[in-house]
Amino acid sequence: MSTLSLFEMRPRKAVDDWTFRGANTRYFTHAYHDYPARMIPQIADRLLREYAPSARSLFDPYCGTGTTLVEGLLHGMETYGTDLNPLARLLASAKTTYIDERTLDSSLRKFMEFSMETHSEDLELPPWLDEDRVRFWFKPRAVVDLRRVYSFIEHIEDKPTELFFLTAFSETIRECSNTRPGEFKLFRRPKEELDRYTPDVFGTMMTKLGRNREAYGDMLGFMGPKSNWKPSHIFDFDTVSGIPTDALGRGLVDVVITSPPYGDSRTTVAYGQFSRLSSEWLAFPEARRVDSMLLGGHRLRSMPVFSSEKLNGALSIIAARDKQRALEISAFYQDLEKSIKNVAAVVRSGGVVCYVVANRRVRSVDLPTDENVVVFFRECGFRHVATLRREIPNKRMPSRNSPTNESGATDTTMVRENIIVMQKE
Ligand SMILES: C[S@@+](CC[C@H](N)C(=O)[O-])C[C@H]1O[C@@H](n2cnc3c(N)ncnc32)[C@H](O)[C@@H]1O
Repeated sequence: MSTLSLFEMRPRKAVDDWTFRGANTRYFTHAYHDYPARMIPQIADRLLREYAPSARSLFDPYCGTGTTLVEGLLHGMETYGTDLNPLARLLASAKTTYIDERTLDSSLRKFMEFSMETHSEDLELPPWLDEDRVRFWFKPRAVVDLRRVYSFIEHIEDKPTELFFLTAFSETIRECSNTRPGEFKLFRRPKEELDRYTPDVFGTMMTKLGRNREAYGDMLGFMGPKSNWKPSHIFDFDTVSGIPTDALGRGLVDVVITSPPYGDSRTTVAYGQFSRLSSEWLAFPEARRVDSMLLGGHRLRSMPVFSSEKLNGALSIIAARDKQRALEISAFYQDLEKSIKNVAAVVRSGGVVCYVVANRRVRSVDLPTDENVVVFFRECGFRHVATLRREIPNKRMPSRNSPTNESGATDTTMVRENIIVMQKE
């Protein structure tokens, strides 16, 4: 590994500042592919330095695109992550996988040649794609070119190189679709805008590949040869229902660093919807039902009682105003509590967990997620080490919502995050 430590490479902020305003959050493979509510890598890096300097194994139970896993890798750790969104898993793998540079560059050269060839043959749409849907979300020229790019990727034999190309391809799919730019949800551009819109599939793909190649080169420069890259294990299990012991043994993990969703996908961040077009092209069978699988996606018929009095109090006020909403929120906290019980079991005695959470306000009632996480972990034999407060300058998130469903009425939500640090006794 390079002698230049990450500490020296990155701009440092004042000691108690966890906001990292203006910091570059896209260094190394963090530069790849956008994703909603990504964690800022500086948070994971600093948590590792300050709370788990000798940790050797790291677990992220909501790993998303693998921000925490990349940081664990950079710290020389073996990392474990799980996410129910298949696109997130693909991206997390791409960001943490060693690729042989010569093999990668040979495929990049071939792709450049391929992009300059004239293609006369008409390729059929892959059979798993719904033709009407594809025509709705993509212009005819974009469909033809996406199909061609995909046919190139299908012939890449080296798996890490294929992952690298699929990552750029997924971003190209989103950017060359008819969706409104800058939105995480699927909204189609208005007709008059679509008439003028001429997406450039090959140009976009080349730009993404070039940016990612540079980012990977930087990462490789820091990490050094393959032997320095500890394995990253990426799974698709749901920590709400249990953690398979063959994936992660009890008491095996030194440190957990994670940012769970802020609430259910329907009312907070729709990870599945964000990923939908790419997931369909990439033939992920769960493409259409991801959001209902995530934390809080199930329906409750009656209000559960939680061990946190504060949470029970907040929920009963919301229930008096809107029973359905209170049930939805309860489903989320019920899942979070079950998941925490399972996560707690894989942490070794003395191990540390760090949860980055935000307190939402629903129906003008504050939901104390930070305190709930503390209560849930305490019940599993953890002690509270610290709650660190930070503002959210970089996350692309809804920062205001309507408390009453009246148009124009807004209520501030999720502009601050709390980092909860707990240690297993
Ligand atoms: C805030 S994002 C994590 C982002 C990640 N830290 C990153 O930087 O990319 C939350 C993630 O939790 C995943 N998720 C939600 N419910 C889940 C569950 N029950 N099990 C596993 N993953 C889940 C979502 O798919 C989403 O990727």
